[in-house]
Amino acid sequence: MRLTRYFLPVLKENPSEAQIVSHRLMLRAGMIRQQAAGIYSWLPLGFRVLRRIEQIVHEEQVRAGHIPMLMPTLQPADLWRESGRYDDYGEEMLRIRDRHKRDLLYGPTNEEMITDIFRAHVGSYKDLPLTLYHIQWKFRDEIRPRFGVMRGREFLMKDGYNFDIDQDAAIHAYNRHMVSYLRTYERMGLTAIPMRAASGPIGGDNTHEFLVLAETGESEVFYDSAILDLKLGNRVVDFDSREECEAIVREWTAPYARTDETHDEALFNAVPEARRKTSRGIEVGQIFYFGTKYSDPMKAVVVNDKGERVPVHMGSHGIGVSRLLGAIIEASHDDRGIIWPEGVTPFPVGIVNLKQGDIATDGACEALYNTLRAKGLEPLYDDRDERAGAKFATMDLIGLPWRITVGPRGLASGLVELTSRRTGQSEEMTPEAAVSRLVQIYENH
Ligand SMILES: Nc1ncnc2c1ncn2[C@@H]1O[C@H](COP(=O)(O)OP(=O)(O)OP(=O)(O)O)[C@@H](O)[C@H]1O
Ligand SMILES: [Mg+2]
Repeated sequence: MRLTRYFLPVLKENPSEAQIVSHRLMLRAGMIRQQAAGIYSWLPLGFRVLRRIEQIVHEEQVRAGHIPMLMPTLQPADLWRESGRYDDYGEEMLRIRDRHKRDLLYGPTNEEMITDIFRAHVGSYKDLPLTLYHIQWKFRDEIRPRFGVMRGREFLMKDGYNFDIDQDAAIHAYNRHMVSYLRTYERMGLTAIPMRAASGPIGGDNTHEFLVLAETGESEVFYDSAILDLKLGNRVVDFDSREECEAIVREWTAPYARTDETHDEALFNAVPEARRKTSRGIEVGQIFYFGTKYSDPMKAVVVNDKGERVPVHMGSHGIGVSRLLGAIIEASHDDRGIIWPEGVTPFPVGIVNLKQGDIATDGACEALYNTLRAKGLEPLYDDRDERAGAKFATMDLIGLPWRITVGPRGLASGLVELTSRRTGQSEEMTPEAAVSRLVQIYENH
């Protein structure tokens, strides 16, 4: 992408309405525009990151054996009357009436709808286990939408639902989700700690939240710092193996980690003092096992291997896809702007031409641009007729992890400069060497 042909409306001034750094940077980097309280347009740069995050979520769900689908944003109220939640959900639910005076709602979550789909099409234990998920816009009429996409009213969520024959099988689904979530967040360059949590209106008592540590987080968290040393990395996991998933869950749930809702002072004090940490965290996901909470009232039953009709055991699992952009920026920025982890960056590399209009620098930039694209590394080429300082400031603000700087002085000896946004370190090398370095860096992303 050439910057002169792109749509990147960066802001020079700090927007006064933004209270936290991620919101400020998303506005300044031209990623989002607020259309109403808690409702945003995703401008091209923000949209690219959103799609990257979605892609990682999809890949890790499919790797765990879960099946993608898509349910609508609008749902009939009658389904929610069956579960009893139409009245319980309260003012957070956006209620809508169509021209035929039928009650609809903009879905805040999808337990009822997925249970309805299941009961219509599945009747036997032979069709289990089954986990279906989608990534779809949700609406919750939050009383205080704030912090940009972090607490929106309309937001993008991955929500998945498992259907299993009994509690043991459903607990395996729970564990499988925890493992797949750990890998999902790691690929985004995040440390998200699973913490035992209290369950909200979705119900049930077996639940963990995933929290990213950040001072601006809305939850107070207490944890044993030993948990920060755990990494899944490229471990090969057999998601069908109950033992393997359970072992990983045990590893991650052994160190103390809880939010204020479930915090237990006595247990916490048993952690060695040097490792006892109190902080704040951003909730980027949550998993639940809730048994037959929906299958009972909604009569989602299957015939088991003894020929008996039993309610199916369920759980639900959510990832805050749009919130993740804010969480990643909170965890990865400096005073000049965003620092995208390679896994989610909108463009893998930026090219800065220090002397636009000069035949040699233009030619070298074009050649780099084409070679990188051919390698599948779509660069953002700053081909504006601007001062070097302004180009560097834009690159730093939008946070591409790597920058190639092309100027007449280096080119005289056949060299360009490769700079890391994170460390600020630059290295001179030939354009070919810069390309192969980038290919190597992105091999695992
Ligand atoms: N208003 C929102 N804006 C953006 N993301 C949200 C919002 N509400 C929830 N999410 C994301 O969706 C995920 C799954 O939804 P869940 O039902 O667990 O939310 P929740 O526990 O009600 O969230 P919170 O406690 O932050 O209000 C959350 O972990 C969070 O990352
Ligand atoms: Mg939650």
